Amino acid sequence: MLPILHLIAISLARAATFASPHPQASTTPCVETDTSTTASDTVITLSSTLTATVTASRSTTPVSSSSTVGPQTSPTSWLTVMASRVGSPIHLLPMNAAGYRFYLGGDTVSYCPTDVEETGDCPAGNQTVLSPCAMGALVPGGQHLYVTPNGEVGYTQAHSTFMPEGSVQCPFTYSKAPGATIGRLGLRAFGASGLIACPTYGGPWQVFANLKNMTAPRGNASQCLGFDPLALNTADIGVWQYT
Ligand SMILES: *[C@@H]1O[C@H](CO)[C@@H](O)[C@H](O)[C@H]1NC(C)=O
Ligand SMILES: *[C@@H]1O[C@H](CO)[C@@H](O)[C@H](O)[C@H]1NC(C)=O
Ligand SMILES: *[C@@H]1O[C@H](CO)[C@@H](O)[C@H](O)[C@H]1NC(C)=O
Repeated sequence: MLPILHLIAISLARAATFASPHPQASTTPCVETDTSTTASDTVITLSSTLTATVTASRSTTPVSSSSTVGPQTSPTSWLTVMASRVGSPIHLLPMNAAGYRFYLGGDTVSYCPTDVEETGDCPAGNQTVLSPCAMGALVPGGQHLYVTPNGEVGYTQAHSTFMPEGSVQCPFTYSKAPGATIGRLGLRAFGASGLIACPTYGGPWQVFANLKNMTAPRGNASQCLGFDPLALNTADIGVWQYT
């Protein structure tokens, strides 16, 4: 069995015995509009939430299983996403940002300016990190998530709020069972149920909302595979900006 599934099994077993000692975050990194919020606001919110969570978890003891605690619906840190579909070529591939779209597999494509590099402030830049609404990017203004009416999941360029006409912002939902270590993403846009990945001509699988009228990159939507998007907490902000 794969280690990640062990983790889930352990978390579920723990969840059955104890309610979560972790407080639910009172703030969220979600950005509903992208005109007034900057990436640094998001970073500050996230790091204070993280600190609060770490501090709180040191001093609490498990409470009785009779108390009811629902699933967590706001992440307490940034997330990395990995596909789960056992027995398929996409199983356990990371979800990576490249060219303002998402792929399972391939590489994260990012950029950090020379002046930032000179001060040693560039993040590693090789990991795709996100929240339900925004990319984990340090660039001022941030980069925001959307789904196009064709079903493509994408993100805005740095210093721009442009997205294709009719796109829906903040497409992801998040859910984590009490006591679990791994959460799951969902998707709410155009009545879609979840995420699918479709083969491209280039190699990696492109990520889409599961829409009946989506446009598959190779023209045949029956080649696309639904998957379970596992959301793992990460303390690291991924990159300066995704390109
Ligand atoms: C990113 O790069 C760092 C430093 O080179 C390396 O340690 C890490 O494993 C890489 N992560 C990924 C996801 O490739
Ligand atoms: C696909 O269907 C959704 C839901 O009915 C609709 O909102 C969207 O505009 C459609 N997309 C296209 C490209 O027609
Ligand atoms: C579309 O893909 C499915 C599954 O791979 C295949 O069975 C079907 O023949 C394909 N249709 C066309 C028109 O290529």
